[in-house]
This record gives sequence, structure tokens and C-alpha cells, in this order.
Amino acid sequence: MPDLSSIGAAVIGTGFIGAVHLNTLRRLGIPVVGVLGSSPARGADRARALGVSRAYGALDELLADTAVQVVHITSPNVAHYRQVKAILAAGKHVICEKPLAMTSAQSAEMVAMARSSGKVAAVCYNTRFYPLNQHAHGTMAAGELGDLRLITGQFHQDWLAKDTDWNWRLEADEGGPLRSVSDIGTHWVDLAGFITGQKPVSVMAELATFIPDRQKPIGPVETFTTTAGPTETRRITTDDAATILLRYANGAKGVLTTSQISHGRRGLLTWDISGSKASAAWSAEAPENLWIGHRDAPNQILLRDPSLMNAFGAAASGMPGGHPEGFADTWTAFFAQVYGDAARGGRGPGSTWATFDDGHYEMRFCDAVLESAAKGAWVNIKEAA
Ligand SMILES: NC(=O)c1ccc[n+]([C@@H]2O[C@H](COP(=O)([O-])OP(=O)(O)OC[C@H]3O[C@@H](n4cnc5c(N)ncnc54)[C@H](O)[C@@H]3O)[C@@H](O)[C@H]2O)c1
Repeated sequence: MPDLSSIGAAVIGTGFIGAVHLNTLRRLGIPVVGVLGSSPARGADRARALGVSRAYGALDELLADTAVQVVHITSPNVAHYRQVKAILAAGKHVICEKPLAMTSAQSAEMVAMARSSGKVAAVCYNTRFYPLNQHAHGTMAAGELGDLRLITGQFHQDWLAKDTDWNWRLEADEGGPLRSVSDIGTHWVDLAGFITGQKPVSVMAELATFIPDRQKPIGPVETFTTTAGPTETRRITTDDAATILLRYANGAKGVLTTSQISHGRRGLLTWDISGSKASAAWSAEAPENLWIGHRDAPNQILLRDPSLMNAFGAAASGMPGGHPEGFADTWTAFFAQVYGDAARGGRGPGSTWATFDDGHYEMRFCDAVLESAAKGAWVNIKEAA
């Protein structure tokens, strides 16, 4: 493992996931040089609260700081494109939150820029880094499940189940035209693609907005928080939920549902694979268990344990078996790999983090979902130009 303590990091955005990025950097011993907020005052307040010594007044100030080699983008989706372009143009590595951009035209440009810059450019599909998802990736690649036949799954949440729940993601001009699909559905699509080694080639999608009018607080709201106070009624066009059928190039089929309005489902991300030799299934609500299904032998449950996992799973495990890992730990395994590559000067052959090409695929997946839902027809996901 290269020495990461000589690489300086800066974090843009200091909300829910920005704090997760910061804590992970500290855990890895990577110096956090400064943060950038939505305004100099907000950045300074949050830097104090998070114990970071420097708050930049503007992006240019951050980019001019030679102590910073890697910049994390954890601002709302609408800001990613402009910030990524500026960071790559300044010759720094970038780790950008998902979805990569607001449109596939933007993400295409970001891919081209990342390629020509030669810098490390990662997109935060962190669920790949649950150790058992890494193990499942290795299992599938080794042919242990056989060919992919069927994959089903979901990503269901409940934090936007009431008309008084509010977040910037609800409005298309800040989050993009899709919500449940782009915000959490793309996590599932990326994870399923990582594990199976295949990405869907066409979709048949239906979108649902069950709560068309919502109460927007007058004033900002941080993700996963509620506020009491005056509100105004806003018309919502983004999807609360979606049902999506998937087709794969090898003839495999898939079904995905997404929801942000399912009471009691805080973060139910699941996948269930039927291969030609065996099956496997996993849920983020019990992330230390991998179910493996057999026809001619008893089924198995693998409790995460690096000594019982393949090299992918073992590499992502931070703890011995019996010492449960979860969401926070996925970031540690993810950033350790990305920073190792930044230290080496490029993506390593064994690296498994999602690239800007992966992030661009998700934007094209979203385009196809929108088109399919509008037409009520199957739509092919466009090839990358
Ligand atoms: N990978 C994951 O598991 C995961 C989880 C949550 C969020 N996200 C992604 O992270 C991003 C942020 O989401 P969040 O839930 O943390 O939102 P949030 O609202 O909690 O935080 C966003 C922060 O960015 C700040 N901000 C707004 N505009 C800015 C700008 N131009 N420059 C700098 N800062 C700005 C806001 O003041 C706020 O502090 C989104 O793209 C979201 O999709 C990813």
C-alpha cells in the first residue's frame, strides 16, 4: 500500500455525504487541506463544525492550492459538470459523486476530458465496495455461477414518503429530470453491472410520481433531515418510484424497482442472480451475508470473512470475520483503492472503482428510461460515442 499521507485532499460540498468523505479520508490518514461550501460563510461554518482548518472562498482558490492533489465533489448534481471540468483543467485528480452529471451530453464531455487529462477520475458508486459484492464479482468472473440468466432487485427508501419531506433532489433543475432512478436506481445498475460483468442494453420503464404536490420549506434543508417552519407548495415532476424491465446482450433478463416512498424501507438495496450453474443474492440490510443457491446441494450463507473469500472480497475487507462492516466501511475500501492509484499515477490493473465511463453509461441508461417511459416502448441504451 503506497504512503497516502503525502497526498492532499479537498472536499467540495459539506452536507450529508461530504462529511462521510471527510471521515473516510481521516480514517485513511489522508490530509484534508480544506473544504469548499456553497458560499464562503457556509463553508467557514461547516469547516469549523467538521474540524477542518481551511475553508476556501471560491473554487479558483481551491484549484490554486498546490497542497491539493485530489478533489472530492459532493455538491448537488447540478454543480458536478462545471466543477469536474475546472478540477481536471487544473491538473488534479477528481472523485465525483453520482450521478456524474445532469445530462449524457455533459457526461460525454467529462469522459473525454478525464481521458485526455490522464488523471484519476472516479465516480462514487460505493456499493461495489461491500466486501461480499466484491466477492460476488470475483465469483461471477470465475464462472462459478455460470452464465447470467435472470437478475432482479430493488433500491427502496422511505425518506421522501410524505408530502412534507423535502430535498433538492425533488426539483429537476437541481437533481436532473429523474430522481429515484438517477439517485438510487443507478447505484443498483452500476452494482449489478459490476457483479455480473454485463450492463443492460435495453429498457422498458414506467415512472410514477405519487406525490405531485409537496411542501417546500422556505430555507435550505440538509439530506435526511426534516424542518418545521413555513413552506410553499411545489409541483413535482421527478419520479417517486419506477419499474424497469432490462434486457442483456447475452439474452439475460432483469427487473429493477426503485422507490423513495416505501414506508419502513430505509435503504433496501437488493440483488438476486440466477446463473446457469448456481444462484446468489445479497441485501444491503444484511450486508455481511451472501446467499448462494444450489439445485443439487444444500444452499449456503457466506458470512463475510476474508479467510473464506476470494481475492476481491478479501481485499475490500477491513475487519476479520465476526466484526461487522457496513456502509461507512465501503468508502474506506473505495478511497484506499483510488488513492493508491492516484499515488501510482493511474488506474491499477486490479482496480474495481467506477470510472467516468461507468458514470456516463448510467447517464445514457437514464436517457433510455426517460424515453421508454414517455413512449411506453422498449428503448436501446445508446452506445458511447
Ligand atoms: N454515493 C452515495 O452513497 C451518496 C449518498 C448521498 C449523496 N450522494 C450524492 O452526493 C451529492 C450530495 O448529496 P448530499 O446528500 O450530501 O446533499 P446535501 O444537500 O446533504 O449536501 C450538499 C452540500 O453541497 C453544498 N453545495 C451546494 N451547492 C454547492 C456548490 N456549488 N459548491 C459547493 N458546495 C455546494 C450544500 O450547501 C450542501 O452542504 C449528490 O450528488 C448525491 O447524489 C451520494
